[in-house]
Amino acid sequence: MQGKGKSGTQLPGTTTLLVAILMTLILLLLTTGSNYLLEASFGFFARQLPLTPIGLLNNRTSEEASRLVPTVGAEYSKEDADSGRHINWLRMPPIFNYTQRYLDLIAQNGSKPCHDVATAEVQLFGLPKPEEADTYIKFKCGKIHSLTLVAFDALGRKRCAGGDYFEIDISGANWKSRAPVLDLQDGSYNILLQMHPAFAGIYRFRIVLGFSNYHGLHRRPERWFRNVTVLDMHLQFVQEEESKDSITRLPNLTQCSSEDFRLDGWIGRWVRTKYNASCSVDQMGRFRCLDSNARCTEPWCQGPIGALESNGWVYSAHCAFRIFTDHDAWKCLNRKWIFFWGDSNHVDSVRNFLNFVLGFENITEVPRRFDTTYYRPGDPSQYVRITSMFNGHSNASLNHEGLFSLHDEAFREQVAAFFKGKPVPDAIILNSGLHDGVYWKHLHQFAEEGAGKAVQFWASLLDGIQGKRPRVVYRTTITTAAWARGAPFNPQKMEIFNNILVEKFREANLLWGVVDGFDLTYPWHFDNNCSDGVHYGKPPAASRWYGQWGHQYFVDLMLVHILMHALCVS
Ligand SMILES: *[C@@H]1O[C@H](CO)[C@@H](O)[C@H](O)[C@H]1NC(C)=O
Ligand SMILES: *[C@@H]1O[C@H](CO)[C@@H](O)[C@H](O)[C@H]1NC(C)=O
Ligand SMILES: *[C@@H]1O[C@H](CO)[C@@H](O)[C@H](O)[C@H]1NC(C)=O
Ligand SMILES: *[C@@H]1O[C@H](CO)[C@@H](O)[C@H](O)[C@H]1NC(C)=O
Ligand SMILES: *[C@@H]1O[C@H](CO)[C@@H](O)[C@H](O)[C@H]1NC(C)=O
Ligand SMILES: *[C@@H]1O[C@H](CO)[C@@H](O)[C@H](O)[C@H]1NC(C)=O
Ligand SMILES: *[C@@H]1O[C@H](CO)[C@@H](O)[C@H](O)[C@H]1NC(C)=O
Ligand SMILES: *[C@@H]1O[C@H](CO)[C@@H](O)[C@H](O)[C@H]1NC(C)=O
Ligand SMILES: *[C@@H]1O[C@H](CO)[C@@H](O)[C@H](O)[C@H]1NC(C)=O
Repeated sequence: MQGKGKSGTQLPGTTTLLVAILMTLILLLLTTGSNYLLEASFGFFARQLPLTPIGLLNNRTSEEASRLVPTVGAEYSKEDADSGRHINWLRMPPIFNYTQRYLDLIAQNGSKPCHDVATAEVQLFGLPKPEEADTYIKFKCGKIHSLTLVAFDALGRKRCAGGDYFEIDISGANWKSRAPVLDLQDGSYNILLQMHPAFAGIYRFRIVLGFSNYHGLHRRPERWFRNVTVLDMHLQFVQEEESKDSITRLPNLTQCSSEDFRLDGWIGRWVRTKYNASCSVDQMGRFRCLDSNARCTEPWCQGPIGALESNGWVYSAHCAFRIFTDHDAWKCLNRKWIFFWGDSNHVDSVRNFLNFVLGFENITEVPRRFDTTYYRPGDPSQYVRITSMFNGHSNASLNHEGLFSLHDEAFREQVAAFFKGKPVPDAIILNSGLHDGVYWKHLHQFAEEGAGKAVQFWASLLDGIQGKRPRVVYRTTITTAAWARGAPFNPQKMEIFNNILVEKFREANLLWGVVDGFDLTYPWHFDNNCSDGVHYGKPPAASRWYGQWGHQYFVDLMLVHILMHALCVS
């Protein structure tokens, strides 16, 4: 796919970066803009930042330097300054007034000359100053570092509107994560980095411009897909010398409690502490790399890490998850009824759940809709009822309706029937997103007729239940990968759709918790290694897969264990 418009302009590589930063500094100082959009979020992040802005690469006066990060500076009160010294894990801000702000933004988009300018170049500010002998730019581990990315037009003028979608990749041999990006709505973007000291080392730091000017939100955005790598460099995270500052130590993650699922969005990471260098795919298409007795390295997870078949990779967020043994899983789920409502990657998760976690080795496929009681292999006195209702279309064989499937009375009735009698499901796992990306003409329509109607529908079902209410988990949709980064269900659109759905379900007080499938899948979305673009959980197969033999399915399996954790935590 080719970019469009002014995308032909050369973007700076690593070598020209340093010079360019110097040259554009003055430009940045001369331009100001409003950043009303993410004020609430920005304040939240600002409170997590270190007290003083990190050193700027060029040697300006301190007055100029402080003006470079004015928003951060202005946010500090005395209290904030103190809390800034206490190092903690970076967290996503709670979702607040999100739908309204995005609807306003999109409604206003196009109303000013600023909106009609394409980003041709970007510059990154706030990198620490390198020492003479340094090969890489160095960041200290533990602390949260704030960088500012500024977009310029083809004439080198700083842009004055937001809407660019930058995809950020921090990846090394044993750590992969995204870095949150905040659109300040004035052509600049705040990027936050944090590395745990145990993973000090050299990382690839890559920024790709997916879409500019909110173009990812179009119903058919393909022709707007930019896919420009605006930065691709290596940087080094170094351990701070052991010193006076015990405060710079990050607290250990703890195992997720039910409280932890109340967060609206996650910032997590994949880490690897165990590895089998000679592992390859087996005849079944599986990656049985680690000993089945191998345990997780604390605090990144608890349980048998080998069960993920990830060759050591494991995901954690603001807390760590449990990897379930078959025994633990049955102990928790015996006699329970779990209801799934979602798209085809939800269907994959259900299959993987039966296959890998509950021990139904021979189940290689499940239908899009079913309601079945499964008896434990080897002990039929134990059972679990699983209902799965595909919602990509009101007709289970079709696609691309998403939440519009609820316009169909027969489909609504089919779903509602499970909640009319007694008993009702013990837990419900909801998801939507990819098919919505194709169906809805614009954001407003999705918010009102899609998300709004879905919330009404679920509210009416749940309010009608007499007795114990099911535990309702909303699982946000995946970050689509490779070719699908430019598709109608691209990450820019899905991130916004996810947040709108979470906000609306929360406002209606329907959710017990959120599981953030977007953050989980994000670090693996740059290529086809772990997905075909829209499914991370295809069944293992010893067959050709985008130029390699076999594919990685562990990302979805991790999701299944996180859902288990959500279902089983007291
Ligand atoms: C940078 O600025 C500081 C203080 O403003 C000064 O002491 C130092 O000599 C400057 N360094 C260079 C390389 O100009
Ligand atoms: C929500 O955001 C809009 C801007 O889109 C703003 O006008 C409104 O005051 C905000 N509401 C609250 C409660 O902050
Ligand atoms: C935003 O405005 C620009 C400029 O008018 C336009 O090119 C773009 O298509 C708009 N984006 C959306 C999602 O409507
Ligand atoms: C964090 O966990 C590690 C490994 O279990 C342990 O060695 C370390 O002391 C813990 N640190 C804190 C601050 O609890
Ligand atoms: C590494 O993985 C291979 C499978 O590809 C397996 O045969 C071997 O036993 C594993 N090595 C260890 C030390 O677990
Ligand atoms: C799977 O199928 C094989 C061959 O039919 C059978 O021997 C085995 O018991 C089955 N496993 C389970 C868990 O049902
Ligand atoms: C669903 O769509 C398929 C394919 O178009 C069609 O054959 C089938 O009759 C439809 N089913 C229902 C219940 O409408
Ligand atoms: C995006 O660009 C990368 C190279 O920078 C290329 O490998 C990839 O195929 C492109 N993706 C699409 C969907 O065009
Ligand atoms: C795919 O991911 C696995 C797990 O991280 C890795 O070992 C393998 O090298 C990757 N393959 C490619 C082609 O990137």
